Amino acid sequence: MSQTHWEEFYATHLPPTDFEDNRSLLKEFCDRHNKIKSNVVLVTSGGTTVPLEHNTVRFVDNFSAGTRGSASAEYFLDHGYAVIFMHRLKSLEPFTRHFTGQQFLDMLELHESGPSTTITVDPDSVDVLAPILQKYKNARESQMILYISFTSVVDYMWLLRAACECLATFEQRALLYLAAAVSDFYIPSDKMPTHKMQSGQGAPVISLQLVPKMLAPLASLWVPHAFVVSFKLETDESLLITKSRDSLNKYKHKLVIANILQTRKHRVVFVTPTTSYELHLTREQALAGLEIEEPIVADVVRKHEEFINSATRQ
Ligand code: PMT
Repeated sequence: MSQTHWEEFYATHLPPTDFEDNRSLLKEFCDRHNKIKSNVVLVTSGGTTVPLEHNTVRFVDNFSAGTRGSASAEYFLDHGYAVIFMHRLKSLEPFTRHFTGQQFLDMLELHESGPSTTITVDPDSVDVLAPILQKYKNARESQMILYISFTSVVDYMWLLRAACECLATFEQRALLYLAAAVSDFYIPSDKMPTHKMQSGQGAPVISLQLVPKMLAPLASLWVPHAFVVSFKLETDESLLITKSRDSLNKYKHKLVIANILQTRKHRVVFVTPTTSYELHLTREQALAGLEIEEPIVADVVRKHEEFINSATRQ
């Protein structure tokens, strides 16, 4: 029997070096939460890289800061979900995302008296830090969140399949929220130079090939009973809805959340097999600090609950 495009991808690309460790963590997390009948969400976040050399000095990157995924993970925790946060290494993470750059250090005060040094939080920052710290500690101590990281598109694909293997046992209680920006193009392993490309050899001609769309086996084979939500990123508004609908028709999953690069922080379109509607933040809401991920997650959770209820009625 000939291999499909996606099977060939796994057969010809090695898993990341820490793959077995991550697989054990995923299994342990899922077994524990399945036993206590939690709802679980896999949130993917950040962009994948496409290395140009095996000993990678240069790579092509997919755009994503990780804002959508990291903010959404926090809101899923608020809704009682166990969260697998699968993210690009060094992209934004839940909780720490609130303090980027020097912001965190600026909240601390150093007191030196003689040989002893103490560090305290600036009183003006306590009101900002305390609620976030509280939620972070709760999530960690109750083991409601698992952090798994990837860098390249190959790492991402191996971890995605491993996560799905564990999530399959949750059936309808599993929610997949695929917000990572995943490359459609790559250089296959056997076409990549081992060492850093040398400028002395002239301008390189780089030929990228298509990455198989993993949504296909994911929705039909790996987690056929789960509630799968994919995101669609476009820069041309005229393509947004048609491409989202094409994706639903092709992969037969439940929902596409469509967004345009420039407006993604205040507008998304929910596209289901039968409807499409917009969620957007008003200027006042944005100025008041509301994040669009809050209503996005609330709506997704409501849809997931309806899906679970209709499955149990059957
Ligand atoms: O992180 P931020 O800066 O906040 O930005 C958030 C975001 C814009 C990245 C996010 O909202 C978003 O749109 N993410 C999806 C981007 C993307 O990969 O879109 P796409 O049209 O290339 O892919 C559509 C779907 O196919 C995705 O769910 C992806 O998981 C899937 N895919 C993609 C490539 C591939 N080889 N296989 C896949 O299954």
